[in-house]
Amino acid sequence: MNRNTLLNLTKKYDSPLYVYDAGKIISQYNTITGAFSKVKNVKINYAAKSLSNINILKLLNQQKSGLDTVSIQEVKLGLLAGFTPKDIIYTPNGVSLKEIEDVAKLGVQINIDNLSILEQFGQKHPTIPVCIRINPHIMAGGNSNISVGHIDSKFGISIHQVPHIKRVVENTNMNINGIHMHTGSDILDIDTFIRASDILFDVAKQFDDIDFIDFGSGFKVPYKEGDISTDIDELGKQLSKRFNEFCKEYGKDLTLMFEPGKFLVSEAGYFLAKVNVVKQTTSTVFAGIDSGFNHLIRPMMYNSYHQIENISNPKGRPRYYSIVGYICETDTFGSNRRISEISEGDILCFKNAGAYCFSMASNYNSRFRPAEVLILDNKDYLIRKRETFEDILRNQEICI
Ligand SMILES: Cc1ncc(COP(=O)(O)O)c(C=O)c1O
Repeated sequence: MNRNTLLNLTKKYDSPLYVYDAGKIISQYNTITGAFSKVKNVKINYAAKSLSNINILKLLNQQKSGLDTVSIQEVKLGLLAGFTPKDIIYTPNGVSLKEIEDVAKLGVQINIDNLSILEQFGQKHPTIPVCIRINPHIMAGGNSNISVGHIDSKFGISIHQVPHIKRVVENTNMNINGIHMHTGSDILDIDTFIRASDILFDVAKQFDDIDFIDFGSGFKVPYKEGDISTDIDELGKQLSKRFNEFCKEYGKDLTLMFEPGKFLVSEAGYFLAKVNVVKQTTSTVFAGIDSGFNHLIRPMMYNSYHQIENISNPKGRPRYYSIVGYICETDTFGSNRRISEISEGDILCFKNAGAYCFSMASNYNSRFRPAEVLILDNKDYLIRKRETFEDILRNQEICI
């Protein structure tokens, strides 16, 4: 996105600010659906958790996307955004049977990832078909915190427990209509998906009435110029062929599903923050901004990389900086980054700020969460107001 546009937006809406480019989200959606165009039934379910502003959900609904949700609140947001219940899949982890039943009452596709709840749900609601989240025991993903399909992970039902699933199905008469996996995020190697798909096909074969296979997500997106990313077109070619062969073998046109978050929204997002202070120490030059890990936690949480550019002085002499936040703990966005010379008051732009950035923001240190702006057809729309002091106090009851 054009630097001047971003700078003008900080003048109009102040900083810190999240900006999203609707055009990029739409083009990413078209890229992934295009890559699987050889499969008759394909459904891309946007992972709401990555960026859950209702306008983003509406935008994806307009593209005919489905929605991947993990909480009843995300389901309700999705329904409000215009998704029909059958467009929504609910993949919770560790939630109560009660919440799962409440979501099922809304008509949403349930995806269960443990045997205990499967059995309880099947006994009480044998007529509601459910999808099973399988743990294929594959180590995948860019960081141990986002690698969720390995043997020690809390997610999914182990492939070694498929006989248990079958026993539950027989005993309860419930119907399994989908098989799902999600092994992690930032997976570069398409072989990981291919290996896991073979495992899912093997599991699917063991159930008579499957309608869909959901391959989860985890596509790696580029974080800087020249960075490598998952080759979606190649994955589309290889997986489509295998999927179509499997459908023939199974004797039914199943639906192929994915549930990307990052792939759809990561690159569409920009986080803009103002430099409050430039601090030269004996070893480092820090640029301290009017934000912190309360607004963008990914670097501190799992060492993620966000390219940082000084859009106020793009042609300035490059120098080395550590970009830090104002939180009362170590709060580093990037160390020893080569950035064009920074002065106090400059606006820094953080790239890849669409996925897991605002949606993980908090009020830590009693700070306001930033505003969000959507650029749609060359116009900017404020899609979330900056919080105010009233928001900090909302729901607090004074008893002293
Ligand atoms: C079950 C599930 N599906 C989909 C996603 C989206 O993954 P990504 O943002 O890497 O596309 C996640 C991410 O945590 C997930 O846990």
